[in-house]
Amino acid sequence: MSQTDLFAANSQNPEPAQEAAALRALLNRHAHLYYVLDAPEVPDAEYDRLFQRLQALEQAHPELLTPDSPTQRVGGRVLDSLRAVRHRVPMLSIQTETDTTEAGARAFDARVRRELGLAADAPPVEYAAELKFDGLAISLRYEDGLLVLGSTRGDGETGEDVTQNLRTIGQIPLKLQGEAPPVLEVRGEVYMRRDDFERLNERQREAGEKTFINPRNTAAGAIRQLDPALVAARKLSFFAYGLGEVQGWALPDTHGAMLDALQAFGLPVSAERIVGAGAQALVAFHQHVAARRDELPFDIDGVVYKVNSLALQRQLGFKSREPRWAVAHKYPAQEQVTRLNGIEIQVGRTGKLTPVAKLEPVFVGGTTVSNATLHNLFELRRKRARVGDQVIVRRAGDVIPEVVGVVPTVLAPLAERAARTGDEEAVVDAAAQAGPTAIAPRVPYVPNFRMPRQCPICGSAVVREKGEVNHRCSGGIVCAAQRKQAILHYAQRRAMDIEGLGDKLVDQLVDGGIVRSLPDLYRLGLTALAALDRMAEKSAANLLKALEDSKKTTLPRFLFGLGIRHVGESTAKDLARHFGQLDRIMDATEGQLLEVNDVGPVVAQSLHTFFAQPHNREAVAQLRAAGVHWEEGAPAERASLPLAGQTFVLTGTLPTLSRDEAKERLEAAGAKVAGSVSKKTHCVVAGEEAGSKLDKARELGIPVIDEAALLALLGLR
Ligand code: IVH
Repeated sequence: MSQTDLFAANSQNPEPAQEAAALRALLNRHAHLYYVLDAPEVPDAEYDRLFQRLQALEQAHPELLTPDSPTQRVGGRVLDSLRAVRHRVPMLSIQTETDTTEAGARAFDARVRRELGLAADAPPVEYAAELKFDGLAISLRYEDGLLVLGSTRGDGETGEDVTQNLRTIGQIPLKLQGEAPPVLEVRGEVYMRRDDFERLNERQREAGEKTFINPRNTAAGAIRQLDPALVAARKLSFFAYGLGEVQGWALPDTHGAMLDALQAFGLPVSAERIVGAGAQALVAFHQHVAARRDELPFDIDGVVYKVNSLALQRQLGFKSREPRWAVAHKYPAQEQVTRLNGIEIQVGRTGKLTPVAKLEPVFVGGTTVSNATLHNLFELRRKRARVGDQVIVRRAGDVIPEVVGVVPTVLAPLAERAARTGDEEAVVDAAAQAGPTAIAPRVPYVPNFRMPRQCPICGSAVVREKGEVNHRCSGGIVCAAQRKQAILHYAQRRAMDIEGLGDKLVDQLVDGGIVRSLPDLYRLGLTALAALDRMAEKSAANLLKALEDSKKTTLPRFLFGLGIRHVGESTAKDLARHFGQLDRIMDATEGQLLEVNDVGPVVAQSLHTFFAQPHNREAVAQLRAAGVHWEEGAPAERASLPLAGQTFVLTGTLPTLSRDEAKERLEAAGAKVAGSVSKKTHCVVAGEEAGSKLDKARELGIPVIDEAALLALLGLR
């Protein structure tokens, strides 16, 4: 009977113990499918349902709780310190070939052959080659298939007990699959995927918090945390690559077969590995992985070659603390220290101003880098970066190079020495350890860079909204950096609806200098268009027709099309309804704008800034001069509407009116329709199956009416 059948059978009328066991097995299987194989069989909601069922069972019958229960992944408490653990089999390191050419692979093969006493014409040695993951080494001890201890490498002899932190990592099985031996220690690497790392830093940046230097430091820092809940929030991953102590298991003959066996036990093993003959295979693997390095979802700092036969490994043995049968072959470092020569401002498609570091050119992650992002002013300040400093640059994967830290002045001599010895890693690590604040009390930070007040591209005012970390150009349509985006926004279906004006065409028009502003669109002629790449005369004519048709529009569409920050479709409608005429909106004070339904201080300020700038007013005037027009209305006399100033809430299904119709009618009568009931609600309109909103209204003593009463109130019946 499969686990699923077992569960299905038991769920009819199961004994709690049986049901809990079946749920555990099922949940562990789904966790393996999800985290290790990346091939879930059930939706997340189904997993959650099973999980909650098991949780409820365990709560009702605490005696059913087992250490391999998936409910126990984040069950640990905050510790005072980490306990020391002695490794039964020491955790060794490997010798490193630091040259990044194929010479390293050949040197290793030659050494192995010499130490095995092989003649020059003896057949090639078989090797296993795999990735050198850039994380931290850990050991997982399974007894009778259950994870009983997880530890860091420490000095190789003694590490720290981090079991409860490792349990939070979904990829680490709490229980091995199949026939597990009495004792199996698995060695491997905990790491953080680049996308998980970027997401974490993005969150930190948005919250104005300190960002992390690289995935490796982040993973290493997390694993040594005392609070497992913090570890769970970091999203770590794991790959197995070797063994520690083993009892009661007949080892396979080769390293490759051993990894296959670990995989069969449910442990994650990287698929990026080969078994091959001689130096040739190693060189090919080194090159193959080098070409793919940027595409991997995680950082590696090299590849590892191992003699495949475990018998030969035993024969070769160890030299001091390193096996003679393995070597690490590096790739160019993904982090380097260099000088920050200057800071320039780049304006993005959305108007965001990004400080860009101008660097003393440096070879990092396989290419020479002379520009790197500093993200935003606040991050630059938090890092205490100054022009002239030694900074750490990181370039990994397809992420744009970034300045991730500053080398504290106390470490600068180390950086200089490293530049001579090539030991950049030591500096980056030391800087990460020290952190930018390490020297704060002694050396006050005096920035030597300022954000410009005017956009360097178009001269428009630079603004930063409250609570926002980013500075922005307020130029919108007049800013060359934002032109393409602005035109596409203006042309989209929900705005001016100019069919045929898509990505590729806009690229050509803007790059060719044919269109510099929105009004330029209406100056396009057949000859200019037909001369463009891949533009047939027929499509040119169609586009001109679409442009002509777009001239007759509505005020909300036009307003939305201008691409004013925070002015979406519905705000544009509210504005049009409230003011009736564009000139009134353009001339409104922030106070007057705030009177509009749903317009708050952020929107009011954005609108005001936009229309306060002469070039924006000029663009609007030119568009109107080109023939863009709409029907203007009278401003709504909101105060005189019957329900002005009243807030309504709709709940349940009304007999004849849809939710949208009811809302529209209420709004037309001047009422505001809110989504939830509060003390400020004047009236609740309740229909069939009204829920918690109705209860809340009753609780607060707010009047409740039905559809008939509503229609009467609106004078419709
Ligand atoms: S084997 C006895 N294989 O590199 C050999 N190590 O100095 C033990 N590492 O910190 C190591 N990927 O955590 C081995 N595929 C891999 C590896 C790997 C990364 C790390 C390991 C240790 C260092 C070895």
